[in-house]
Parts: sequence; C-alpha cells; structure tokens
Amino acid sequence: MQSEFILRGHVLSFTASPFAMATPEEAVQISAAVALAQGRVVGCGTFEDMLALQPQAEVIDHGARLILAGFVDAHVHYPQTAIIASWGKRLIDWLNSYTFPEEMRFGDAAYAREIADRYLDLTQANGTTTVCSFATIHPESVDAFFSAAQARGQRVVTGKTCMDRNAPTELRDTAQSAYDDSKALIQRWHGVDRLEYAITPRFSPTSTPQQLEAMGALWGEHPGCLMQTHLSEQLDEIEWVKSLFPQARDYLDTYEEFGLLGARGLYGHAIHLEERERHRLREYGSALVHCPTSNTFIGSGLFDMDGLMTEGQRIGLATDTGGGSSFSMLRTMAAAYEIGQLRGRPLHATELIWLATQGSATALRMEDKIGNIAPGLEADLVVLDLASTPAIAQRSARAGDLWEAVFPTLMMGDDRAIAEVWINGVRQ
Ligand code: GUN
Ligand code: ZN
Repeated sequence: MQSEFILRGHVLSFTASPFAMATPEEAVQISAAVALAQGRVVGCGTFEDMLALQPQAEVIDHGARLILAGFVDAHVHYPQTAIIASWGKRLIDWLNSYTFPEEMRFGDAAYAREIADRYLDLTQANGTTTVCSFATIHPESVDAFFSAAQARGQRVVTGKTCMDRNAPTELRDTAQSAYDDSKALIQRWHGVDRLEYAITPRFSPTSTPQQLEAMGALWGEHPGCLMQTHLSEQLDEIEWVKSLFPQARDYLDTYEEFGLLGARGLYGHAIHLEERERHRLREYGSALVHCPTSNTFIGSGLFDMDGLMTEGQRIGLATDTGGGSSFSMLRTMAAAYEIGQLRGRPLHATELIWLATQGSATALRMEDKIGNIAPGLEADLVVLDLASTPAIAQRSARAGDLWEAVFPTLMMGDDRAIAEVWINGVRQ
C-alpha cells in the first residue's frame, strides 16, 4: 500500500509561539508542500524539493486550502456526547440534572463503545485528531474509549473518573477501588500504541481527602502518566471547596496537599485563580486548559488568557464537551476570540490556531509527537477549505493576505470547512 504522499497547498508550521513574538505572523512558516511517509512528516518546503525527497510519492493537490496539524482538544468528557446542549443550569445543577444520570449508563460496555465511536466520528468530522477525555467511574468506559481510538490509530488520552462522595451512589467508588481500578487500567493501556492514561479525580468536591491522597500516591508510582481534573470554574464551586476543605489555602491547595500538583497535571477551566495558585502552577509548569464555549454556556466566567500567557503559564484549548456546546475546535477558537475581546485582548488567527494545535499538544506534553507540521512528527493533519460556505467565501474573497483569508473560517466555519483529515499518515 502507498505510504508516501506529498500534499500541496498552504502548509502551516510554527517555528515559535506567536504569543512570544512582537508580531504573531513571525512565528509561522508557510510552505507550498509537505511530504509524508510511514505515518510521519518527512519535511515541508517547495513542491520540487518534496518531490526530490520522495519521487515515488502520491501527490495530492489542495490548491488554495490550508494544511495544518490536526486539532488537539485538551479537555473533554466523551460520555457527555448525548447530553450536549442541555438547557438552563449552572455547574452543580447541570452535573446533577444532566451529567450524572447519563454517566450512569456507562457501566454497560456496549453503550460506552457506541458513544465512544459516535464521539470520535463527530470530532474527526470537525478536524480533531487528538483528545484528552474524562471517562466515567466505570473501567468499561475507559476500555471502550481506548479500544475505539486504537482501531482508528488515534493518539488519545483518557482515564477513569474517580468520585467517592457528593455523587449518586451508583457513580461512587472508594479510595481503594479508585486506586486499584486506575492502576489496572494504567497497566492495560498506558503506552500501548498511541494511547496514554490520565489519572482522573473529577474535582475536589467529589473526592474525599483519602481518595485524593490515593490518587496522589498512584501518580507518584506512575509519574509518566498525565493527571487531569477541574480547577476554579465557578464561584459557587469555589465556596463549596472552601467548606469541604476548611484547612486549604485555596482550591489548588486541595490538590497540592495530596501530591496532585505537577508538570504533567492538566487543570480544566482555571478561571478564578488567586495569586498563590498562579504562582504555584507556573512554578510547576502545569497546564491550564481554556474551555471557552463551556465557560459561557454554563456561565462560569472569562479566562484571563492575556494575563496568564504573559506570566508564562502553559495553556491548552478545549471544547469541554458536553459542558461546552460544540464538538468543533473552530467554534472553540471563535469563542476564545470573543472572550479575548471581552477582556480587551483580541487574539490573532495565528494565536488561535497555535492554541488549538501546539498549545494543546504542549499542555499534554506531546509537542515532540503532534501539534505541528515538522520533520519527524506524527502525520496527523487537517486540510481546511477557506471558502466552505457562501458567507465565508464572499468574505475571504476580499482578504488582503492569508490571515484575513483564514480568519472568517475560524469565526464562522464548521464541519463543512474540514476538507480532509489525516491520522497517523492515513487519509480518513
Ligand atoms: N466539574 C466537575 N465535573 C465537571 C464536568 O463534567 N464538566 C464541567 N464543565 N465541569 C465539571
Ligand atoms: Zn470538564
């Protein structure tokens, strides 16, 4: 089977973070072609140079389309696929009314597999090639997601969501069973093919100190795993955390005290942070994950992208499906732009794309594997049609440069803008 390809178009690679440049465009290199072989990027440059590298390759000409790394969604809940866009609640009521009843169904392995496949179909149609997902408390829900991703050759992260209080009885484990089940899943899945395990305490309110301690011990024994949770999403939630952990200095301290603060830690939302929390997160190089459609949909608040980026935090971008109202990283970039506007800092197209690819890959500590188009990286790509609807086409036709041509697709694009997706060097 042919495994050498050359894709022609506008190939976008980052040579630096656009947030670190005086003008963000300087962080980007646009090439005329990219060469792929055996599931990896071989190089990018002129078409003639790529052809000289791989004279036998199949050539696919994308004309004026934009070719970039596949989108990386750094915080989602795949089990919430079927309850996305549920009306009228804020975080705690939303969990109790919509989320927990749905998550109870995932003890059924067949249902978990059905939703895992549905979720991966929907996200692939939207150009997402890697996700970091919460599962449910059921080990079956982790098996289902990893099996479905493995069959597609996808690089994904998931983990059993651990909760031993403040959740319905059917959704509670214990400190010991959470430790044992998570450990068995790490042994079964972590590092198999492109799959990685994340130790997953849902958030402090649904874990006893004993469970947080057990999770911290497990992470200490498996430091190569990621750890994902939620942090400072809504003000009511923060008050609740204070009442449950009266000794804690702040919300982050409820993780820090139990060994759940680290460089491979992912903290979803991170909106209402105190100075000490920002300092400690920066010190550890932990990742904050911005979930803009969720933060407006559930009414959580406005993430301080400019302040956090300026002080040197590691930041990824995510849908937070189904608290987030979309499966699309294009829609998520549009929401990040709008929140930036409300905070007085419009993000540039290059910054939005960086967050949705390299930023999220860096948050997942996978920047040496995915999130960019560069020699040696895995060939996960998305090809964007920059004139996918009449509304977008008439606007991009007026564009004075490439970024003006791209921006309408970031703001108004949906799955119709996704011309092609490549996973591990295979065209889907
Ligand atoms: N905090 C704890 N669990 C959840 C969840 O499932 N979604 C969101 N948005 N926040 C949470
Ligand atoms: Zn979440």
